[in-house]
Amino acid sequence: MSEVNIREKLQAILNEATEKIQAADALEKLNEVRVNFLGKKGQLTAVLKGMKDVAPEDRPKVGQLVNEAREKLEGLMEESKSRMEKLLLEKKLAEEVIDVTLPAKKADVGHRHPNTIALEEVERIFIGMGYEVVEGPEVEYQDYNFTKLNIPEGHPARDEQDTFFIDDKICLRSQTSPVQARTMEKGKLPIRMIAPGRVFRSDEVDATHSPSFHQIEGLVIDKHITFADLKGTLEEFARELFGPETKTKFRPHHFPFTEPSAEVDVSCFKCGGKGCRFCKGSGWIEILGCGMVHPHVLEMCGIDPEEYTGFAFGVGLERIALLKYEIDDMRLLYENDYRFLKQF
Ligand code: DAH
Repeated sequence: MSEVNIREKLQAILNEATEKIQAADALEKLNEVRVNFLGKKGQLTAVLKGMKDVAPEDRPKVGQLVNEAREKLEGLMEESKSRMEKLLLEKKLAEEVIDVTLPAKKADVGHRHPNTIALEEVERIFIGMGYEVVEGPEVEYQDYNFTKLNIPEGHPARDEQDTFFIDDKICLRSQTSPVQARTMEKGKLPIRMIAPGRVFRSDEVDATHSPSFHQIEGLVIDKHITFADLKGTLEEFARELFGPETKTKFRPHHFPFTEPSAEVDVSCFKCGGKGCRFCKGSGWIEILGCGMVHPHVLEMCGIDPEEYTGFAFGVGLERIALLKYEIDDMRLLYENDYRFLKQF
């Protein structure tokens, strides 16, 4: 084939390809053109393959012509492609118009529950005094819930804390006190811990009772711990929680796992102790139970009561939340009505 023939052939190919590129109205069609003209079996490639029929002296010139044609086609296709992409984008933008004047959907952010706020406050106070926060299981061996706390089988205190029994060994814990035994048994001394968590009792629901509520247990075991440490700690706790003017009163009481035991009242933070509706006229509000850990409990948990002593306490979390936020019905804490919750 002569150079002139090839020139003509290339022009014909170029014309045809240009027409097809101009007619292409989608990226896929453009790709077809690429395959048909520039692909392995494409028309332009075929010209290159026919080079062997070209006179050797014409070959460089012909090679150059083919390359020029290829570049031209590629340029045209590139132009066409960017034109198409631009159109596509414009179309998409036009379709997806956002009306910024529409009222926005309000994202309602949740709110911490008063129980959680109160718990975090209690945790903050005790962490500040060097306590660790630990947890124990809600489904508990009766051994831990009762026996290791000096409440043997048949002891009347088991009835007082009637709970939900899974079988004759396992129950839903009626108090967080079993975490005391679990922590002592680990054998790491000294101990300074609080253990918050859910507890269960077969109580009817009313303004001050629920079959499921929360307690925060506290336990300190070390050498030379005395009742004075217990008093000082809980007095400080009460002042931090209810205000610096808060007075504390320790009333003798009985718990099987502490000896001596006490219940603690705080001066009414509403009336300052004069007596009001809040403290039912007495000027005092009961907040917790406490005592020196019974030597028998220490022994059962592997601690030598001759060497170590300690104190424990148990606080009702709901009670703290109700007092602190002046809520007069415990049921409000469980209904999860956002209008109620968001006040705190
Ligand atoms: N576990 C007791 C209850 O649920 C509360 C309690 C009293 C816990 C005295 C203690 C304590 O650690 O020393 O009624």
